[in-house]
Amino acid sequence: PVPLILDCDTGIDDSLAILYLLSHPAAELLAVVSTAGNVPADVVCANNLAWMEVCGREDIPVALGATDPLVAPLRTTEDTHGPLGVGYAELPTAARPASSRSGVDWWIDVTTRHPGEVVGLVTGPLTTLAQAVEADPALPARLARLVIMGGTFHHPGNTTPTSEWNVAVDPEAAKAVFAAFGRDGAPEPIVCPLDLTESIVFTPDHLGRLAAAAESEPVEQPGPDDEYGTRSVASNTVVRHVTDAVRFYFEFHADHDEGYICHMHDPFAAAVAVDPGIVTTRPAVVDVEVDGALTRGTTVADTRGMWGRPVNARIATATDADAVLDDIVDRVADLARR
Ligand code: BDR
Ligand code: CA
Repeated sequence: PVPLILDCDTGIDDSLAILYLLSHPAAELLAVVSTAGNVPADVVCANNLAWMEVCGREDIPVALGATDPLVAPLRTTEDTHGPLGVGYAELPTAARPASSRSGVDWWIDVTTRHPGEVVGLVTGPLTTLAQAVEADPALPARLARLVIMGGTFHHPGNTTPTSEWNVAVDPEAAKAVFAAFGRDGAPEPIVCPLDLTESIVFTPDHLGRLAAAAESEPVEQPGPDDEYGTRSVASNTVVRHVTDAVRFYFEFHADHDEGYICHMHDPFAAAVAVDPGIVTTRPAVVDVEVDGALTRGTTVADTRGMWGRPVNARIATATDADAVLDDIVDRVADLARR
C-alpha cells in the first residue's frame, strides 16, 4: 500500500476523505495533521481523533497543526460545515489525546523515516506544510508525491470571485508551498482545483446506495423537503454519522442555489493521492496572488511559459466523475460494514 500523510481541516468532505483512505486497501495512513480552516484547529483535531475512534484506528497518530494562517487572521466557515465542522453529526469525544508531537514534526518525521515513499495529501489550508518546509527545506524532495485540493483557475471561486477556500484562508502558505515544490528533486504537486472538484457531485442517491451497501435494514435518506437538522436513525454508526454530516452539506449547497447535492472535493483528492492515474493533468507554473485588493488568494497558472519559470505543478483537468463517485460510495460503505 501507498504510505500517506493527510493534512486536513475536517470538515464534512475531509471526513469522507478520511473514511475513504481508512478503507482503501492500497493506502496506509501514517499520520493525520489537523490544520485550522473550516473550523479552528483544536476542533479539527477533535474531529480527526473522533473519526479514528469510530473506525477503531487509534493506532494512527493525530496531531495538532497550525492554529493560525502565516500572516492573515484565521477565518472559519461554520456556515458551510456546521458549528463543529461535521454538520449535524454528533461524534464522540475521543478517549485518546492528540499526539504530543506537532503536525510539523509529523510531516518531517514520516518523510525522514520513509524517504521517497510517502504521499502527502493536503485537503485544508497549506499552513502546516508551509511551516514544515520552512523548518526543513529538504522535506519536499523526500516526498514521493504531493496532492493538493485547492485553487481555482477559471474562476469563479467559492470564497471570493477568484479564490478557493483552502488557498484563500492562507495565501502566503500556498505561495510558499508552490515555490518549494517542482525543483531540487521535489515532485510537482498534483493540484485538484475547484474547476474539477465541483464536477464530483454527490447526491442523496449516492448516500442511499452507501447506506444500503453498508447495512441490512433500509433507512430513509434525506431529501430536499426534510426539516433542517433531522437526524439519521441508522443503526450503523458510520452510516449514521456520515448521513448527519452530509445532510448539512446538502442543505448548505441547496441554500446557495446549487441544488440538494454536495461536492466531494476532498475525497476526490484522496482518490487521486492513492491513484494519480484517474486524472488527466496539465503541467503549469502555479503561483498565488497575495496582494491584490480584489484578487488576494487567487491561484494563477502559467501554462505557456510566459514567466520563463520551471513547471512546479500539474493541474488536474479531467476525470471520470461517475467512477470517482462510485469508488467513494464503495469505499465508505466497505468501511461501515467492518
Ligand atoms: C475546500 O474548502 C473546504 O471547505 C472543503 O473542505 C474543501 O477542502 C473546497 O474549496
Ligand atoms: Ca477541507
